[in-house]
Parts: sequence; C-alpha cells; structure tokens
Amino acid sequence: VIAFFQPKLLAGQRVVVTAGPTFEAIDPVRGITNLSSGKMGFAIARAAQDAGAEVTLIAGPVSLPTPRGVRRVDVKSALNMRLAAVEYAQAATVFIATAAVADWRPATAADQKLKKDGSGATPQLEFVENPDILAEVASGPRAIEGKLFCVGFAAESHDLLAHATAKRLRKKVPLLVGNIGPATFGQDDNALLLVDAQGATELPRNTKLQLARQLVAEIAKRLHSH
Ligand code: CTP
Ligand code: CA
Repeated sequence: VIAFFQPKLLAGQRVVVTAGPTFEAIDPVRGITNLSSGKMGFAIARAAQDAGAEVTLIAGPVSLPTPRGVRRVDVKSALNMRLAAVEYAQAATVFIATAAVADWRPATAADQKLKKDGSGATPQLEFVENPDILAEVASGPRAIEGKLFCVGFAAESHDLLAHATAKRLRKKVPLLVGNIGPATFGQDDNALLLVDAQGATELPRNTKLQLARQLVAEIAKRLHSH
C-alpha cells in the first residue's frame, strides 16, 4: 500500500533504447544482418516504461510486439538507426544501446537483384565500417554536460570482464552491461555483468524482464547519485 505512494524510479526521465539487429542491403532482395531477437532491449523498454519513464524504442527488424505505452521507431540499417538515435537522444536523459548493430555494410547496394551468370562466379562484396552509434551519442554535448546517462551492452564470446571494461572506457559510458554466456540469442533468460567505474557486479540468471527491471533500478540509483 505504501509503495503505491512512492514516486516511480524513472519518473520524469526520457529514455531511448536501441534494440534488435540492423539489416544492411546487398541488393533489393538480400542483405547481411546480426543475430539478435531484440528481446533484451524490448524488456528494458517495458521495464523503463513501467518505472515511469517516457520511452522511445528504436528497433531494427524484429518480430516482437511493442510494449504498451512505448513510442516505437522502426529502422532497418545502421545508418537509419544512427539518424533516429541522434535525433531522439537530443531530448533524452538516458540512452541504452542494446542493438546488435552490423559493424560493416556493403560499400554499395545494387539497385537491381544480382543474378547468377552461370559461370559459378561469386559477387565480390566490399564493406565499409558503420558509425558507432553509442560512441557518438556518448560523446555528444548532452552526455558531456551530464544531462544524458549512457549505457552500453557487450556480447562477447570470451574474456567478458576484460572486453567489457575496455569497451566501457573506449565508448566513454558510465555503465557497460555484458551478456554472460553461453549465447543468449532468442532465449527468454540471461545473466548480466554490470561494469562501471567501481568495478563489476553480476545480476544472476533470470528472465530478461526481471533482469531489465533490476537494470532499471541500477540505472535509477546512478542517476540520483550523479
Ligand atoms: N554499438 C553501436 N553502434 C555500432 C556498434 C556498436 O551503437 N556501430 C553499441 C552496441 O549497441 C552496444 C555497444 O556499442 O551497446 C557494444 O557493441 P559491440 O558490438 O559489443 O562493440 P563494438 O564496438 O562493435 O566492438 P566489437 O563488435 O568489435 O567487439
Ligand atoms: Ca560490434
């Protein structure tokens, strides 16, 4: 009963979450993408909304329902996601990057479907690096002025703590969250390693929604102390 009268953890906050994979076109019918169901990002958007925040969810191609009350912006490529993220981050107070952004895209996408020529020859694709959306938002004026709290994620196949620590410093984010293996793609549960300036703490295996609620509480704690 008393809890009913307490302000919600993220009341008054504007939270932007990126989620899912990106899709990088090769031609009108093909492309490359990353493995990501978007479930963790969608769970975080839901948990943040339940915690009283105004939430914008920038989603790559996924097949998940939009959490109730959340504004969803659908994007396809990393370049689309970057545009949306930079725009919505301008008015945000928290930016949470869970998306599995393709690190590279084909240098040029063909206007027409590539056809086999019968000789067995294969297309020679050239790639260019995609912009680092999180690093860009985290080095923008709002983040530098302390008005935007940025959170990154890392999916690593090995040496999670070392890679997550290095990634946190490289992207200049106060909080970097590692997915504790084995690979969690598409699963409903996960375990997380929270890495900040103080060190690392583990959120033990649980459903993605429960972990999202715990992460929201951890972010709220840091917002109020910073
Ligand atoms: N990220 C991003 N834009 C990119 C690449 C990554 O915003 N072009 C974000 C992800 O959403 C995640 C964090 O950066 O929050 C770390 O992503 P990850 O792929 O683990 O790191 P990279 O910097 O791409 O390094 P690598 O894949 O080589 O380990
Ligand atoms: Ca990457």
